[in-house]
Amino acid sequence: TAQSFEQHFQDKLDNEVSIEPRDWMPDDYRKTLIRQISQHAHSEIVGMLPEGNWITRAPSLRRKAVLLAKVQDEGGHGLYLYSAAETLGITRDEMLGQLHSGKAKYSSIFNYPTLTWADMGAVGWLVDGAAIMNQVPLCRTSYGPYARAMVRVCKEESFHQRQGFEIMMRLAEGSETQKKMAQDALNRWWWPSIMMFGPKDDDSAHSAQSMAWRIKRFSNDELRQKFIDVTVEQAKLIGLTIPDPDLKWNEEKGHYDFGAINWDEFWNVVKGNGPCNKERLAARQNAWNNGAWVRDAALAYSEKRKERAEK
Ligand code: 3HC
Repeated sequence: TAQSFEQHFQDKLDNEVSIEPRDWMPDDYRKTLIRQISQHAHSEIVGMLPEGNWITRAPSLRRKAVLLAKVQDEGGHGLYLYSAAETLGITRDEMLGQLHSGKAKYSSIFNYPTLTWADMGAVGWLVDGAAIMNQVPLCRTSYGPYARAMVRVCKEESFHQRQGFEIMMRLAEGSETQKKMAQDALNRWWWPSIMMFGPKDDDSAHSAQSMAWRIKRFSNDELRQKFIDVTVEQAKLIGLTIPDPDLKWNEEKGHYDFGAINWDEFWNVVKGNGPCNKERLAARQNAWNNGAWVRDAALAYSEKRKERAEK
């Protein structure tokens, strides 16, 4: 009966047994995973754009090679995640259609402009740093293919974060102008990075259910707090100032208290009115349209190969 299917499913969750593509799962569990994994994949692919902007302008061959490797990694993360989502019964074309039509979301952070080279440091350090906080627990998410994709992704994320922090460190210990560039980038990327973790727990539509299904292991606020506690120390190490006058160590709580987040800005960006939303979506739509001939040629070629094989 449906009851025993539900019960069996819940027993697996309670015993930390991975749910696999062929297992029975509640429709809403499937829908939630398709929503989260596909939007995670869109975030990876759209996330290539802000950094791609600086590959041809990197200050040295080494910086160019490292940034190129990082952006290519993000593309690979996107493909892993689209493949994980496909195991739930949605096609790649459907997911990309949802992105291009504006129906699907991607992480708000990628709707901000990358104005100077120091932004490559701030993005690697803060955005990938925040992504690590959020993705490490996802290595233990209840859906098998998603958890396994995350293991590989997390290994590469730590390289992304380290190369970003190294850029910030070099600039911070460089000339006055370089230090100012690093501080300016931190000023512009700090608040959007802590917004990446999503709305406050009591404004989060999905958290309770996602945690019951062991999709989400820690709440948005827990991960945000963890990220702030670690990152404030890193900023101190390189002599940069976090742009939050209310940031203060709370001995009793053992955490940093921090200022109010501008949730109007967050929802505005999520709703599509951020600084770069239109540009990012247009870039993806153009890539899809300009790449149609490659997809058609690959399909035609595979048809021909199939015909030859059948002869
Ligand atoms: N940007 C855009 N939308 C966001 C958001 C953000 N930063 N945070 C939350 N939202 C959306 C949610 O998608 C949801 O909308 P939906 O119902 O249309 O999907 C709504 O706001 C309510 O938020 P909830 O907290 O209730 O939603 P979730 O339980 O899904 O939690 C999440 C949000 C923490 C982002 C979760 O979906 C998650 O962990 N996703 C996987 C990780 C991920 O996507 N990371 C973001 C970027 S990946 C990255 O940074 C790549 C790196 O290599 C640079």
